[in-house]
Amino acid sequence: LDDGLARTPPMGWNDWNAFGCSVTERLVEQTADTMVASGMKDAGYTYVNIDDCWMTHSRDAAGHLVPDPAKFPDGIKGTADYVHRKGLKLGIYESAGTATCAGYPGSLGHERQDAADFAAWGVDYLKYDNCNNQGVPYQQRYDAMRDALKATGRPIVYSLCEWGEDSVWTWGAATGHLWRTTGDISASFGSMLSIYRSNVRLAGYAGPGGWNDPDMLEVGNGMSFTEDRTEFTLWAEMAAPLIAGTDLRTATPATLSLYTNRDVIAVDQDPLGRQGTEVSSSGGLHVLAKPLAGGDVAVVLFNENAAPATITTSASTAGLPAAPSYRLTNLWSHQVTSTGGTVSAQVPGHGTVMYRVSVGGGSSVGTTHPLAGASSA
Ligand code: GLA
Repeated sequence: LDDGLARTPPMGWNDWNAFGCSVTERLVEQTADTMVASGMKDAGYTYVNIDDCWMTHSRDAAGHLVPDPAKFPDGIKGTADYVHRKGLKLGIYESAGTATCAGYPGSLGHERQDAADFAAWGVDYLKYDNCNNQGVPYQQRYDAMRDALKATGRPIVYSLCEWGEDSVWTWGAATGHLWRTTGDISASFGSMLSIYRSNVRLAGYAGPGGWNDPDMLEVGNGMSFTEDRTEFTLWAEMAAPLIAGTDLRTATPATLSLYTNRDVIAVDQDPLGRQGTEVSSSGGLHVLAKPLAGGDVAVVLFNENAAPATITTSASTAGLPAAPSYRLTNLWSHQVTSTGGTVSAQVPGHGTVMYRVSVGGGSSVGTTHPLAGASSA
């Protein structure tokens, strides 16, 4: 949507991947505290998002949704007030159907009333699911909530969660700020890889105000450290929403170091808003390039195979103009090298290497500093 919101991909947290239906006000508030204390807020994470199962099984006599009083003793309003006092924003979940995926009352036919309640409670983000949709056409259902949110006058990021059905990427930007491109992710390399393959092809549809959403991050939820780092790298390269999906209160320093790498986040949040594309792909070895504001290019070398491999490309293949030398900044090791054009690295199985490539800047031509695990020439 071209309304000033989500000019860069939304960043935040959502409870679903780690907690499923076990969401509570206490969890949301403790997570908000942790986002501030861990440096995630300073790194750009803003939205604290409640997923399914926050309400009671029926509407009240006046037709309003009712927050489960056992889970949310202060209601969504009280929870939002707490989150806002921390300088963060609150997200909520509903479904464009007669019931949510977990069977709570849906918003189909109640869009105006529900949107008005969300706005009155101080909600800043709505994830709008697709369960129990009764076969009512997609655009009709999702446009109805878009119009209802707009009518509230409150700026609310609108996340279309309809699993990549009905080619949502072709109409998503006219309806919402982000749209899921696939079914649900799980914390496995195979799940992540298949979602990556679907999402990476859709770069032409993404841009400021409208983003392809390959689902929430599983970083910290059970993949290996290398695989977690690959997910974070690929999601940033694809200008994906960065919605953390783990228990931040107990996350290890290693997990937090992935979520808070500011150089990688800067690639995701680059103001040009271009989604990276594959410039070569063969035998499970992928090279991606994402043009950045100011002329740099973020290059990712991704090895989907289990065995380590050398992946090689060039500055020109990545879209940089011809130049005598280029500077390569490895965004995970932070080491800087220079190259005459070759961009190459030894990449671990299931791993990625991510460079920011700039024209020139090589201090003295011919002087390179090969890295352990990454070389340039
Ligand atoms: C669907 C969505 C998930 C999650 C669950 C909640 O499966 O795709 O992201 O919101 O519903 O029930």
